[in-house]
Amino acid sequence: MRKGIILSGGTGSRLFPCTTAVSKQLLPVFDKPMIFYSLSVLMMAKIKEILIITNEENIYSYKKLFNNGDNLGIKIFYEKQDKPSGIAEALLIGKKFLNNSPCALILGDNIFYGNHFEKLLTKANKNKKNTIFAYRVKNPENYGVVKLNKNNQPIKIIEKPKKNISDLAVTGLYFYDEKSSSYASKIKPSKRGELEITDLNNIYLKKKKLDVQLLPEGFTWFDAGTYDGLLEASMYVNSIQKRQNKMIACLEEIALNHKWINKIQLKKRIYQFKKSGYANYLHKLLKLKFPYK
Ligand code: G1P
Repeated sequence: MRKGIILSGGTGSRLFPCTTAVSKQLLPVFDKPMIFYSLSVLMMAKIKEILIITNEENIYSYKKLFNNGDNLGIKIFYEKQDKPSGIAEALLIGKKFLNNSPCALILGDNIFYGNHFEKLLTKANKNKKNTIFAYRVKNPENYGVVKLNKNNQPIKIIEKPKKNISDLAVTGLYFYDEKSSSYASKIKPSKRGELEITDLNNIYLKKKKLDVQLLPEGFTWFDAGTYDGLLEASMYVNSIQKRQNKMIACLEEIALNHKWINKIQLKKRIYQFKKSGYANYLHKLLKLKFPYK
């Protein structure tokens, strides 16, 4: 079974002073903590065992939020990352947890939303190869960037390229096979002193075991780790939710849909969240039939 890892570490320095006393991925994106969005992606991919990696001082807050995952019908584990030494380090910290399982790794400040996303996730989940997700951006120099050939096969991936090679950013969601921890242990720190996820992707690329899933037009991907990104993501979630009367990243709704929790458990959540808008939405779910499409 595929397992999930959420990397929720870092100092959040681009958001100081907002993140001086609070973990970045616990800041609100409109009506819920940022990490709900990445957790919802793993849950949509039907992943039930999830490791959250964060700084030691924040583990208590995450446990307060999710406990062992029982409330959502999943299993949540916690590990600490002492200092931000790169995304690929998550696969080393998570080695024991993964125990040679395939995994999906996601960054806790990435927000994905769009049509048919669940189908793309199911495809990546079933793929024996590895899958990364690419998104067209205006500022590729800020990301890992992938260049594709005519058949949409990756030919190179460069971390924050100075010269433009393509406008396809590699997003912070990666589906790997059971070898990811062992390959990650071969990576050497980059100039910025990090174990780069781009280096791991290049290992899979060389072995011809890497697929790139393009996120379709109209799809939305945010990196909410900057002042603008955080505000834009909040405004986006607010405007979509107002219009379509469906919440983005409602974890209980996904759990109900997979039959991981029942309505008695849902009622407990409603009680816990009191008179919030989130609880009101959960209340509406009580009247619906699950699973629905
Ligand atoms: C990291 C990765 C980069 C990826 C990005 C997605 O960048 O190194 O390849 O495109 O996340 O958010 P960083 O946040 O470390 O600048």
